[in-house]
Amino acid sequence: MSRKVYAVILASGKGERMNCGFPKQFIEIAGKTIVGRSIEAFEKNSGIDEIIVVSEPACIEKITEIVKNSGFKKVTKIVPGGAVRAESSSIGVGEIAEDDAKVLIHDAARPFVSQRIIDDCISALDSSDAVHTAIKATDTIIEADCGKMAATTDRSRMMQVQTPQGFRASVIKKAHANAKKEGFAGATDDCGIVFKYGLADIRIVEGERTNIKITYPEDIALAGIIAEKG
Ligand code: CTP
Ligand code: MG
Repeated sequence: MSRKVYAVILASGKGERMNCGFPKQFIEIAGKTIVGRSIEAFEKNSGIDEIIVVSEPACIEKITEIVKNSGFKKVTKIVPGGAVRAESSSIGVGEIAEDDAKVLIHDAARPFVSQRIIDDCISALDSSDAVHTAIKATDTIIEADCGKMAATTDRSRMMQVQTPQGFRASVIKKAHANAKKEGFAGATDDCGIVFKYGLADIRIVEGERTNIKITYPEDIALAGIIAEKG
């Protein structure tokens, strides 16, 4: 029997950098909320069996309404998230019972994830226990320390990470259990946690430049253009 595939959509952030008076995942881009678009991408992918949404605790009703009004059938759980992203992620993954399931963890703030990226992440998990989505860095990256340049990097080896990030459920659960002991300190993404504890070889799936994370007010105009281009 093939392994069950879950998507965990992380929508428990407050959107402080967006500073729009409510969590940014509820901003509408061309008539649809950011979180609604992100859920829809996984809803319509035939490889996804179930979707778990991790919601900002005060917004569970709002998400429930979006799920209902959009007719999403794969969303089985909407659970309140934690104080930091890694905690929200660990709460979402904690809802998965099967240790050998495949799980794709995705930022609700990346509504333009393509079907090709989702397909590639699911397939990569046939032969790997962890998969990262990333694109080649276009800017040169330097290391900085206290306002001073501390080191150069080789741009040809640098990549910018995106989501989804995919895992065998047992691997990401173990990673989160370790991170929890350290208060989830310093963890910005799930592959970073798996890497830190050396729990799997992490395959890289090619991301896309349109798979943006909507973070600042300036990102909204670009999001509108991407949405219109379909
Ligand atoms: N996220 C989450 N739980 C948290 C923090 C973040 O589920 N405690 C989610 C966000 O909702 C988002 C994704 O993780 O979909 C990436 O986080 P980010 O872009 O940083 O969103 P926010 O934390 O909401 O924004 P900011 O950092 O500007 O407050
Ligand atoms: Mg954040």
